[in-house]
Amino acid sequence: MSVTEEIKSRLDIVDIVSETVSLRKSGRNYAGFCPFHSNTRTPAFYVFPETQTWRCFGACAEGGDLFSYVMKKEGWDFREALEQMARRAGVTLEDRRPQDKAQVAAEQKQTDLLSAAADYFHMLLMHAPEADHARHYVRERELTDETLAEFRLGFALNGWDKCRTHFNEQGYDDQDLLDAGLLTENEERGTRYDRFRNRLMIPIRDVNGRVVGFGARTLEKDGIPKYLNSPQTELFDKSSLLFGLDTAKRHIREARQVVIVEGYMDVMQGWQHGFRNMVAQMGTALTERQLQLLKRYTKRFVLALDADAAGAKATLRGLQVARETLDHDVEVRFDAQGLVRHEARLQADIQVVTLPEGNDPDKIIRTQPELWPQLLAKSQPVVAYVIEVLTRDLDMGDAKGKTAVAQQVIPLIKDIQDPVERDHYWQQLARTLRIDERALRQVRIESKPRQRQQPRPPQRGAIGEPPPPTLDMPPEPDMFWPEEAQPVVKKRLRVRPSDKYHREAYFLRQCMKYPEMVRRVNQLLQRMEQGVVSAQDFALQEDRLIFQQIMQIAIDAAFVAGEDLCDSLDDDVLQSRLQVLRTLIPEPPASLDKLPDKLALSVLQWRQDSLEGRVQEIKLLVQEAAYKAVDEPGSDVLHLYQQQASELARSKVLITRAINSMSAVQRRRAADGGGYGRLQK
Ligand code: UTP
Ligand code: MN
Repeated sequence: MSVTEEIKSRLDIVDIVSETVSLRKSGRNYAGFCPFHSNTRTPAFYVFPETQTWRCFGACAEGGDLFSYVMKKEGWDFREALEQMARRAGVTLEDRRPQDKAQVAAEQKQTDLLSAAADYFHMLLMHAPEADHARHYVRERELTDETLAEFRLGFALNGWDKCRTHFNEQGYDDQDLLDAGLLTENEERGTRYDRFRNRLMIPIRDVNGRVVGFGARTLEKDGIPKYLNSPQTELFDKSSLLFGLDTAKRHIREARQVVIVEGYMDVMQGWQHGFRNMVAQMGTALTERQLQLLKRYTKRFVLALDADAAGAKATLRGLQVARETLDHDVEVRFDAQGLVRHEARLQADIQVVTLPEGNDPDKIIRTQPELWPQLLAKSQPVVAYVIEVLTRDLDMGDAKGKTAVAQQVIPLIKDIQDPVERDHYWQQLARTLRIDERALRQVRIESKPRQRQQPRPPQRGAIGEPPPPTLDMPPEPDMFWPEEAQPVVKKRLRVRPSDKYHREAYFLRQCMKYPEMVRRVNQLLQRMEQGVVSAQDFALQEDRLIFQQIMQIAIDAAFVAGEDLCDSLDDDVLQSRLQVLRTLIPEPPASLDKLPDKLALSVLQWRQDSLEGRVQEIKLLVQEAAYKAVDEPGSDVLHLYQQQASELARSKVLITRAINSMSAVQRRRAADGGGYGRLQK
């Protein structure tokens, strides 16, 4: 039994949840108000003792196991959740790293190497004859020598083993270079080569100024990817780093405000012009960890978003901006709901400003520096910003359009913690839409079918995941985990059919080996009008995290096999899950021809299974609600569940249809002798 299984078998999710949510028995299950969205009318939150899972049938439309619950509720990462739950369950966790000392030494070696590499690249940029075009490039972008020195910009020579040879001669072996992400390995061909070739090298430093990785810009016009970043390692984790923070922190404190921009160039150009309280989120969504880091210096955040990232109304659909490009894959850049929740949790003040179309801070500051402070002065609170963007070209005679806006904004308003502020936005929205506030407050928020069909892209602990604080239950860590309450040892045998998670495991195993499969599988799924694979698809919290890691690999290092990079998962519990996956599922086939088809089919089948389970759940809920509706005629619970039930039934039909058509294609192919071609292209 794995540690997580052991912990789950000793704890009861009903006990844990009831400490913060008041649950009442409802048939075989327990119901209450969802702690993750504010609603005190419909108890849409359910805990299922038999499967030891939870689910919100309301606005969140989310669910998971014990771990995902406490992570979301307490804002813990997996490790914290594990430690807390283990303590309660009376399970001893093995030391995270038995070889801690060796670990520290290895890390030191890596940072030494990375810092030496930054010097080496910098020296090349300043002096190497082969770097003429790179020097020309930085001049073109109007970066001064002072800026080049401050950020230690560099140049990687155009060759397959220049960096490797240089550092081999300095006494670093290939393994060191691989660990530091300077070398890339192609396992199948058994070749190793410099990861960064002919690129402008931008060292990325942690808050203490240690070089932990690189962002490397192509010097070719339309080179792909535009920025090649260091692979995810224990040291280099984009979700907890902010570019420029080491230099900016002092200025952030002085300015009592931090300006968060998207890119490296924006920060450097800002610095050059004296706007030094800037950091860059490096193209990913802002994470809670990043905001926590910044909070040491200020509570006032201004997000300056490129027009293309968040401004266009079309992309505000769903209040998330997903942009899809070859090198980025799917990413969330701006998630209003997440921001509102963060703001409440962190007691911070988050403002947003969009730059004029076609501009980024780099360009504005370079060409019209005086405009920059003026733009920042126009920043607005998140909710006000969303209202403005959504209603900018709304025709006030368009009733449907108004409803659509209300549908999007109301959930945000409901998430605001402060009652006065919340009221303010009800009024503002009513005024802007020119409708009666009472009518507005009665708008029924449609549960989002979008989420079922197009699951949200994985978020790596990004904004949107952490729980909002709830009004009625202020998070009180000490009360939440009273010392005497642990260890509560409750031996219970829950037999889980082991093949229940087999498809999920099979999928992960193949993608560990071939991260790029995720994209291909997603293409197939989308072609069948099914949502792309998201972390939410996985039943086990460990699998969600592993999947997110694989996505990261697929985005960041298209040419590296996932196996090795998965090894950088810094958690031994995840490691042991990987081990299980490796032993459970045989080595992926050598021929990848049919793999995407097979994987897509398996995703559909496992969704079908889990949907079936949920259909059964909701059926029971509808029955119960129908009884109760007799006593409480005003309640809209029954309606909510009926809606859910028919939505689930519809999704099931669609999935079954997709499965049938896929199977037909596969059968046909088998008959054709396995010819592939058509679907792939
Ligand atoms: P942008 O595409 O807006 O680039 O990505 P930029 O900063 O304006 O770069 P220039 O001006 O064209 O040189 C914003 C940020 O997203 C990350 C980088 O951190 C970049 O600065 N990014 C972008 C990547 O990591 N990889 C990419 O391929 C592209
Ligand atoms: Mn730019």
